[in-house]
Amino acid sequence: MEGFSPEGFIRRQTVEIKSLIGKERALIAVSGGVDSVSAAVLTHKAVGENLLCIMLDDAFMREGEPEHIAQLVSKPPIKLPINVLNVQERFLNALKGLTDAEAKRKIFRETFYKVLGETADKEGCKILVQGTIKADVLETTGGVKTQHNVLEQMGIDTVKHFGFRVVEPLKSLYKEQVRMVARKLGIPAEIAERQPFPGPGLSVRVVGEVTEDKLTAEKKATAIVERHFSKHKPSQYFAAIFDNNTAHYSRAGAIQETVARLLNVPSRHVLMKVLEAKTTGIRGGQRRYANVAALNIQTMSGDFHTPSIPTLVALQSKITSDPFFTRVLYCIKGSSQARPYIAALRAITTQDFLTASVSEIPWDTLNQTATDVLSTCPNVCEVYLDVTPKPPATIEME
Ligand code: XMP
Repeated sequence: MEGFSPEGFIRRQTVEIKSLIGKERALIAVSGGVDSVSAAVLTHKAVGENLLCIMLDDAFMREGEPEHIAQLVSKPPIKLPINVLNVQERFLNALKGLTDAEAKRKIFRETFYKVLGETADKEGCKILVQGTIKADVLETTGGVKTQHNVLEQMGIDTVKHFGFRVVEPLKSLYKEQVRMVARKLGIPAEIAERQPFPGPGLSVRVVGEVTEDKLTAEKKATAIVERHFSKHKPSQYFAAIFDNNTAHYSRAGAIQETVARLLNVPSRHVLMKVLEAKTTGIRGGQRRYANVAALNIQTMSGDFHTPSIPTLVALQSKITSDPFFTRVLYCIKGSSQARPYIAALRAITTQDFLTASVSEIPWDTLNQTATDVLSTCPNVCEVYLDVTPKPPATIEME
């Protein structure tokens, strides 16, 4: 970060973008995140009306987000005219029946670029501008996961497949540098300081198959987490929804003993289930797709144990030392009713998003959030905290 000059970057990139785009028309899909909005404002500065801004309402944005972002981006000080394209059905149909994380990401990416290719063709745009940043490229080329927006670096011929050339003015920058550029461009704090949101949106937080009621629960739970966690300023925070289905794991008893010893509680109070769904992690710099351990520890009086977050993270490291697991969830609250889903709350602190630690959210906030999730999401029976740093987990679930 040291020595980085946002003014110098903006000056050089404006010239560079002008020379790359020339007199062509270009298209950009704005999500409302700092990367795509900065790329759009910078490109608009360089080529003016030759840039067409759209927002794909793909069904995986947060509650009320498409309308809110479209309004924010089109009014001063940003003032970028933007068209919202409702393509919800197309995305939901494309993902129907898929459970594997990478398969979901690949179909999302294909649908995303097909829609953009058709729009570019209709509007006479030969160029697609993207807000790809350094971490997206590093993680995809490094084999951690398929970031939806990394194409050329993966050897995909975009002209042949989708009919456009790609211009990525921010691809040499880290997230913090993008924020510096955004502030310099006059982009309001609501966007410049906004927590990152993945391109495939909530589809990677509805773990396994995306169904309508899982997606509804995910939207409601994420809105609650955002409301309660923002005051603690984690770098990123959200909820994820899992099916409450379990898998067999022969060493569960041994882990329960270890956990009981470490927390100094009777082992009969420690319950561990292994979820059937897998999530993404990293081991030795490489992607791993493996199981999730869900711990449920109650005191004599039936309340949930509330150890410190560092204690839970230390506990997690004992469990994830077995490569069978990518992540550990710790139960905050449960409902006595049988319901099909569980929610996992995630809050992480990071500088570069390549590694991350678990944020120390106070227990009263965790309890309040879990209570609200249980009362607002009728299909959720338990609320957990994800106590896994990156590595061995990734920030997103898939
Ligand atoms: P992971 O889950 O890889 O996330 O630890 C690192 C950061 O990247 C975001 N992320 C994405 N952003 N397209 C994006 O634009 C994607 O496909 C994508 N996947 C993850 C994630 O939210 C986190 O900030």
